[in-house]
Amino acid sequence: MIDFKRYCAEKIELINAYLENCLKEGSISNIEQAMRYSLLAGGKRLRPLLLMATVDVVAGKSQQYLPVAAGLEMIHTYSLIHDDLPALDNDDYRRGKLTNHKVFGEDIAILAGDALLTAAFECVATQKFVDSQLLVELVGDIAKAAGRLGMVGGQTLDVQANGEFLNCAALQKMHEGKTGALFKVAIVSGGKLAGANPEQLLALEKFATLYGLVFQITDDILDVEGEFADLGKPVGSDVRNGKVTYVSAYGLQGAKDLVLTLTQEAKAELNIFGDKAELLIAFLHQLLTRKN
Ligand code: IPE
Ligand code: IPE
Ligand code: MG
Ligand code: MG
Ligand code: MG
Repeated sequence: MIDFKRYCAEKIELINAYLENCLKEGSISNIEQAMRYSLLAGGKRLRPLLLMATVDVVAGKSQQYLPVAAGLEMIHTYSLIHDDLPALDNDDYRRGKLTNHKVFGEDIAILAGDALLTAAFECVATQKFVDSQLLVELVGDIAKAAGRLGMVGGQTLDVQANGEFLNCAALQKMHEGKTGALFKVAIVSGGKLAGANPEQLLALEKFATLYGLVFQITDDILDVEGEFADLGKPVGSDVRNGKVTYVSAYGLQGAKDLVLTLTQEAKAELNIFGDKAELLIAFLHQLLTRKN
């Protein structure tokens, strides 16, 4: 049986060390200071972890793929900096610290986000041990997942929903975009890097979609029931902003019931991996009890 806590701790150490090194180079300005403030503030590192775990489930040697994994964390961190801005969720705390714009000002926070998004692709482009055609494919997949068809598209639906009722399909589409797309590309990229066959890739894609949905529903639940000390970000941000969430649409208990149903569905998608699926299932189960 895998020691899940130990697996995560070991990989997080590698990811953090890698990220720490990425932005060392001095540039023409001091924008790195604002980039590093948010990037190295902690965070669960779930997207790089899931990429690495998928590689390990399919073939092993995940350590080789730190550049792509770290790139995903940069994109995620940029999305958080922008999500917290006054024009979006207007939040003051993130990862247990003041938000980027509270420390550096809105102008620098916007630029730090922009620079993290582009630094991500700088980082991905340094990936070795992968066929160049596959690397180009991954760059395309990641760009698509981050942009209008993925995270940015979902965030756009989020800000435009503005408290209006969304039907179930619209709500799911918003969550799949704003949160699911990056999780999906993390897991599917892991599969592709590890040489997964088409049947395995399809299973990973379905698992990832469900994982992303469960993740964002639990995020919506934590916004109601969580504790600031655990979350490191404000509780009640969604209600304050009149957000449409799974809790506002289904009620707290309805959202919790849905989490359990979707978790079972997600687990079933991994059957073709047999016992090796244990690692990805541990990431899924972690969502059921997470406090941050
Ligand atoms: C928060 O993501 C933003 C959402 C997509 C809901 P995480 O909960 O993964 O945040 P960090 O990276 O651990 O700070
Ligand atoms: C935003 O969702 C997800 C992103 C793309 C950043 P939320 O607005 O619910 O994320 P939190 O709760 O602020 O982390
Ligand atoms: Mg938001
Ligand atoms: Mg937010
Ligand atoms: Mg939230």
